[in-house]
Amino acid sequence: MNILAIESSCDETACAVVKDGREILSNAVASQIDIHALYGGVVPEIASRAHTEAINGIVARALNDAGVSMKDIDAVAVTNRPGLIGALLVGVNFAKGLAYSYNLPLIPVHHIRGHIAANYVYYNGNDAPEKLEPPFAALVMSGGHTSLVNVKDYTEFECIGATRDDAAGEAFDKVARLMGLEYPGGAKMDKLAESGNEKAVFFPEAHVRDFPYDFSFSGIKTAAINYIHTNEQNKTEICKEDVAASFTASICRAINSRLEMLFNSEDLFKSGKLALAGGVSANSHIRKSVSELCEKYKVKAYFPPLSLCGDNAAMIASQAYYEYVNNTGNFYNYALNAYATCDISK
Ligand code: KG4
Ligand code: ZN
Repeated sequence: MNILAIESSCDETACAVVKDGREILSNAVASQIDIHALYGGVVPEIASRAHTEAINGIVARALNDAGVSMKDIDAVAVTNRPGLIGALLVGVNFAKGLAYSYNLPLIPVHHIRGHIAANYVYYNGNDAPEKLEPPFAALVMSGGHTSLVNVKDYTEFECIGATRDDAAGEAFDKVARLMGLEYPGGAKMDKLAESGNEKAVFFPEAHVRDFPYDFSFSGIKTAAINYIHTNEQNKTEICKEDVAASFTASICRAINSRLEMLFNSEDLFKSGKLALAGGVSANSHIRKSVSELCEKYKVKAYFPPLSLCGDNAAMIASQAYYEYVNNTGNFYNYALNAYATCDISK
């Protein structure tokens, strides 16, 4: 079954064709990073307009790269939640039109479910990774979300914990911006941290009373921002590498303390498998520290390839396949809307 998927929830206009939920036939992405970098962050209305301009071409490119035409497509999928509402509307309405005109099913996909599915896909049979199948635990860290999820089945999710305030990516981007790094700063912080001393500054991480699996990154972010501002006021030079390394170490501590608790929980963690997902899961230091923890607890760790950590449509097509085969909706209902709600279990 070939699914053509569209993703436009934030600042990437993407289209992919994926066979049977696993094999990527094409994966086209038009990034708007250059446009938003001027403003230091995503400007929603500009994002919507840029999606409108890019979407036709990106769908044509995905079909062309896959070497197929619409007659080879069995269903259209689209991210319909959560995301920037204007940006989502562009993808949802384009997908509706495409599905309606070719009389194809239209499969709505939750963006975070999609990120998790980035662990299922591969580019061709030869480089297929070890097949990940539910049940497993997933830690999704993106620009807007940080969630620890039990993936009980391909379409059955239980949220164990989530951030109470900022997502990990948001915290990375804000601290990076204050140090003069261009948007999105996460990847640049990753690079800077390589040559920094992670013990140079202590940024305390917060825990949420009575909700041990929840995250809170705004405190770490504020601690780093205060450190930078105080040094500015005192006219003392900061070592950006040290700030990046210390900040990353603090994020790693926050992540690993929750994971360690999870690995020790016989109730919540029975699968022995953990998958990372989302843009922040590209971070080399986080990948290393999570790998080490998994090794210690003999947990099998899965990481998407770097090219599939950020927003893309291949992950949406993959999740759509499982939504379709598990019959989770009326896929001929072209009245589909873009919703702002973001409960992954629904
Ligand atoms: O999943 P994603 O592409 O988009 C959303 O769904 O939000 O995540 C984007 C986030 C941004 O905050 C970006 O700075 C962060 O992922 N990111 C990273 C790295 N690469 C991207 N954060 C830390 N280290 C990285 N290497
Ligand atoms: Zn995303």
